[in-house]
Amino acid sequence: MPTDNSNPLAWIDDALTDLERQDLRRHSATRTSAQSALVTIDGLELINFGSNDYLGLASDERLAAAAHAAAEREGWGGGASPLVSGRSLSHAKLERRLAEFEGTEAALVFPSGFAANAGIIPALVEEGDAIFADAKNHASLIDGCRLSRVTRFIYPHRDCDALETMLRQSAGVRRRLIVTDTLFSMDGDLAPVARLTELAAHYEAMLLLDEAHATGVFGPNARGVTDQLESTHKPAAPGSAGGSHAASSHTIRIGTLSKALGSAGGFVCGSQSLIDWLANRARTYVFSTAQPPATSAAAIAALDIIQSEPHRRQELLARAADLREGLRAQGWTTGHSESQIIPLILGDAKRTLDLATKLRDAGYFIPAIRPPTVPEGESLLRLSLCYHHTPEIIDTLLTRLARFAGRA
Ligand SMILES: Cc1ncc(COP(=O)(O)O)c(C=O)c1O
Repeated sequence: MPTDNSNPLAWIDDALTDLERQDLRRHSATRTSAQSALVTIDGLELINFGSNDYLGLASDERLAAAAHAAAEREGWGGGASPLVSGRSLSHAKLERRLAEFEGTEAALVFPSGFAANAGIIPALVEEGDAIFADAKNHASLIDGCRLSRVTRFIYPHRDCDALETMLRQSAGVRRRLIVTDTLFSMDGDLAPVARLTELAAHYEAMLLLDEAHATGVFGPNARGVTDQLESTHKPAAPGSAGGSHAASSHTIRIGTLSKALGSAGGFVCGSQSLIDWLANRARTYVFSTAQPPATSAAAIAALDIIQSEPHRRQELLARAADLREGLRAQGWTTGHSESQIIPLILGDAKRTLDLATKLRDAGYFIPAIRPPTVPEGESLLRLSLCYHHTPEIIDTLLTRLARFAGRA
């Protein structure tokens, strides 16, 4: 169809057609059931391997009850930025609770994890500084880095030698900031946090760790990959709040309330001065409406459950290990996953979409992840496990996948 020159938005139809041709056009699905192991999406009842509700809390009635009570007490909307009048009692309690949970002096809650990253990074660096970022960081970290408009060094995925070379090359810069996911959202692999911590200390760089997919799941205190690492270096004393915070007291740790915590919102935790600075300078905190009190209250209820029901994360990780082993035995390429996120890497976008469609026909919802979410040639099916996936569900999935192995 010829482009309509009188309509300045006409290019959009052409661009969408291009996406369609490349098998890259996305459509929003509509879920008409609660988020759980079984979901109804676009009218189809499917076994759900496509949510980040890792601990099965998104539809837990205790979160709904806490949200309901807070909405009755404090109203529904945030109404204004936290610095004006939007920070409700539930929001303030959540920030205190998160600091305790994370073992840090303070925490700050943002409207989403994306907003946290987009606001925090530009508040930490400015002209004359440099950022060092893993090539596979989440889009929100990438955008936070772009918004900061400082020199960016992108190191190959998890490659600390390359990072060190870049750190050496940047001798003249004023401040340095290393930025990484701790658990990569598409590949399910872990950042080399121990080495990153050493490099940050040696080169006097700030270290920002985004634990979005690890909060609630990893470590003896469920704080994430850093927690797991610290526990292997220095075990927590029985009954104590946790182990050494050698790494965490000098880092900027980000998490989200929207994944394992089953609620919504993002947060950062660290020293009191870091939090005070970000409350003054992170534009997505200062200039955005605070999260509704009900959302904060639901997140507090989730923290209670995470602390009192550790079997959820233990069973989740054990089942993920079983599934990974079963998939590898069938010959699927699952990369370096060490977590509840397991990629089936197929490479080609069309093959990936075709397999997702076959699986949907067989009753499974497993999203096809294609560029730009992953680099060209690295399309994958992203299997994301949650606590509600029983061993039977996992066995049946493996049986189904065995039929497609080698033919996908
Ligand atoms: C590593 C990482 N950080 C941040 C976010 C954004 O969090 P939210 O969904 O709460 O905006 C995501 C979302 O997938 C993520 O994977």
